[in-house]
Amino acid sequence: MPARLFLSSGDLMADRRFEFARDLQLKGDLPAAADLLHQAIELAPSFVSAWFTLGNIREQLGERDAAIAAFRKAHVADPDDRHGARLRLMRLGAAPLAAMTQGYVQALFDQYARRFESTLVDDLGYRGPELLFRAVLSVRAAARKPAFFKRAIDLGCGTGLAATAFAREVDHFVGVDLSPRMIERARLTGFYAELEVADMVQGLRSRLEASADLILAADAMVYVADLSPALSEASRVLAAGGLLAFTTETHAGEGVIIGAGLRYAHAAAYVRAAVEAAGLKLSLLEDRSARNEDNVPVPGLVAVASKT
Ligand SMILES: C[S@@+](CC[C@H](N)C(=O)[O-])C[C@H]1O[C@@H](n2cnc3c(N)ncnc32)[C@H](O)[C@@H]1O
Repeated sequence: MPARLFLSSGDLMADRRFEFARDLQLKGDLPAAADLLHQAIELAPSFVSAWFTLGNIREQLGERDAAIAAFRKAHVADPDDRHGARLRLMRLGAAPLAAMTQGYVQALFDQYARRFESTLVDDLGYRGPELLFRAVLSVRAAARKPAFFKRAIDLGCGTGLAATAFAREVDHFVGVDLSPRMIERARLTGFYAELEVADMVQGLRSRLEASADLILAADAMVYVADLSPALSEASRVLAAGGLLAFTTETHAGEGVIIGAGLRYAHAAAYVRAAVEAAGLKLSLLEDRSARNEDNVPVPGLVAVASKT
């Protein structure tokens, strides 16, 4: 997990009380930690990190209503929602499913960037890029076409693991990611001709029609609730015969939910419908897990859609 985000209240005393509260929380003394957080909030009523941590503690204590109230305060105090309080409200069934804020995704991955590869690959057995690579090769083999691409776009490129997997098959790689720190890491790989800090839909909008023959999104659609805008922009940007390959997490029900890992899970039927609605042909949809959690594979899908 990434380091815990801390947003100072601007009041030294309140910040100190927060630090003590965190120590108590880590030692397991949750009621005492909650008391101290209330003291910090008395000093700084819009102290978003204190409200968010209080929400966590109330949830740990099984006090759902108090947790919801605290997460709501955290969200009001920081509409950019860098802590992800609204996601916690969604998980608690106290807010409708909605998009993550850019502020949340940026804060999460900017903090995570330095340890991203060791955490994801070594600890969680991450295999998203490899799944995409095999899926793209199999779709190309079935179509009796070479798996070579002149221009590829890597959506949510992170530190560059997908470009590393596809480096020998792609001439010109563009990487797009919301997190500046992840982009800095991607730059170090040397595999990208262009890198852009942007939301994936904005990144695609700035590209010409039919200007790419491969678009990848490895473990990035799990941060996108509604796939339609990204898929229809991808469809516009792909040249005829081009491929869009992505992974996502999934669930046995219908539509889109937010999972325990605070990532979205898209039902297979939802993915199928979204691909078709974007004017693409689904060439491959398989149950494949891109990562483990608690040593158990997280249910996932790998999809390859073709522009006809
Ligand atoms: C789990 S990482 C995966 C990174 C990389 N694709 C890989 O396979 O290692 C998810 C990445 O997607 C980025 N991301 C999430 N939502 C995004 C969005 N809407 N637009 C652009 N990037 C996004 C995050 O900043 C993060 O770097």
